[in-house]
Amino acid sequence: MKRLGILLSGRGSNFEAIADTVAAGKIAAEIAIVVANRPEARGLEVARLRGLPAVCIPSKGLDRTIYDGMLVEELKKHAVDLVCLAGYMRLLSAGFIREFPGRVLNIHPSLLPSFPGLDAQHQALEHGVKVTGCTVHFVDEYLDAGPIIVQAAVPVLDGDTVETLSGRILSEEHRIYSEAIRMVLSGTLRIEGRRVLGGH
Ligand code: GRF
Repeated sequence: MKRLGILLSGRGSNFEAIADTVAAGKIAAEIAIVVANRPEARGLEVARLRGLPAVCIPSKGLDRTIYDGMLVEELKKHAVDLVCLAGYMRLLSAGFIREFPGRVLNIHPSLLPSFPGLDAQHQALEHGVKVTGCTVHFVDEYLDAGPIIVQAAVPVLDGDTVETLSGRILSEEHRIYSEAIRMVLSGTLRIEGRRVLGGH
């Protein structure tokens, strides 16, 4: 059984979707630890209600290298195989990535490389694109930049607000994050340049 470590900063709906898939036995993995960097993160409460191990390691005011060292220690303590960022609002250092090579995933609410960074749904509306979506990718030390594992597209409708568009994207996020985890854990993926192959 592979062991997942979830890092989050807020609401935790992607974490919940992953936890549902795990609980349904659809991913051959267990959630070993949930770590939040903000004490007020709702995801922490969600984890505890589900009886999953969860800790808060507050990042406020801490140097990135020092903080990431604390994260690595916590994740290693729980023998984590795969790290899933689920609304984790901090860039990870190169040192962290080196500890989990090819084993850190992130989800982003746009079709990368369009609209990296904050407020991707707002960026998409402002730009006037007709299609946007979400992306699960491997994490490197750059923001929203590593090789892409799964994407899903959604239409942008005339009456959309950031809220309605975000909701439409979020439903797809919840679906593709588990799909990407399954693909990575299957061990069949290979990376050639930026391309992730062998998933289908
Ligand atoms: C999601 O839109 C995700 O793509 C982005 O942050 C948001 C987190 O939402 N990285 P949640 O905490 O999983 O509900």
